[in-house]
Amino acid sequence: MHRAAPLLPLPAGDIHLWFCPHGESGDPALDASYRALLTPQELQQKDRFHFARDRHRYLLTRVLVRTILSRYAPVDPHHWRFASGTFGRPRIDDGSAIEETRGLDFNLSHTAGLIVLAIARDIELGVDVENIRRPAVLDAVDHFFAPAEARSLGALPAASQPHRFFELWTLKESYIKARGMGLQIPLDSFAFALDNPGDVGFALADPHGNAAWHFQQLQPTPDHMVAVCTSVDARIVCHETAPLQWERVVEVRPTRASRIPPLSPIPPS
Ligand SMILES: CC(C)(COP(=O)(O)OP(=O)(O)OC[C@H]1O[C@@H](n2cnc3c(N)ncnc32)[C@H](O)[C@@H]1OP(=O)(O)O)[C@@H](O)C(=O)NCCC(=O)NCCS
Repeated sequence: MHRAAPLLPLPAGDIHLWFCPHGESGDPALDASYRALLTPQELQQKDRFHFARDRHRYLLTRVLVRTILSRYAPVDPHHWRFASGTFGRPRIDDGSAIEETRGLDFNLSHTAGLIVLAIARDIELGVDVENIRRPAVLDAVDHFFAPAEARSLGALPAASQPHRFFELWTLKESYIKARGMGLQIPLDSFAFALDNPGDVGFALADPHGNAAWHFQQLQPTPDHMVAVCTSVDARIVCHETAPLQWERVVEVRPTRASRIPPLSPIPPS
């Protein structure tokens, strides 16, 4: 399907999000065609997972990245090569000088039931998905979130706190993933203000830091919350796929987004 399908256009300022539902593997023939796309190192890495469910998720994630990148550049899914940044952020290792791979970047996130892959060109981006049916770790709020975030969450009725927790958690993860630095960025050094419905307010503790990041939040399924952080005000186009089987465009409207121009900064402390 992927080699025959025409390349997808990715206009400047667009982000493509790909949602890939996953559960247990059930089709040995499909799994064999998935395995054929991985490198020997990836196959070894897959076999290090103890549980079959995790092996399958790893396999599906690698195949998703490879087949979807091949929708944007004339590269065979098996031929993509990847490198890691200093803090482990994977990126395309492009020695090929193919025009379509220039500036092409991705970020991905997985949780129970869903893998999310974000694709962009010449845009810094980070994506996070969480399964909101899992218990919210409200005990972590005072330790890990900025004081302003913890205060505004604590002022909500108890029944609303888990939802706010996942909104904050996914937004915080999307930011540290866009920066590519993981938990090197202290989670209380930046804060989101979510008390205005539909809005995402964002501020850094460091007044000289670059707070010009854009955030959007979506709920592609009743169980999953996604946040996307980008270096520009991007338009999100959503797709759903089962690799090597089917793909379709889906309409998922953001539940929250940064306001343009941004709201006045909220101090994190
Ligand atoms: C590793 C980290 C980038 C994301 O971890 P995570 O939320 O557990 O996992 P996700 O599924 O969202 O993302 C994992 C993917 O991010 C990508 N990734 C890894 N390091 C990355 C980095 N430094 N920057 C951006 N993306 C990164 C990888 O593609 C990885 O998937 P892969 O291993 O299958 O290739 C990092 O943010 C982390 O360690 N988080 C810990 C969780 C936490 O305490 N969060 C608190 C939020 S309030």
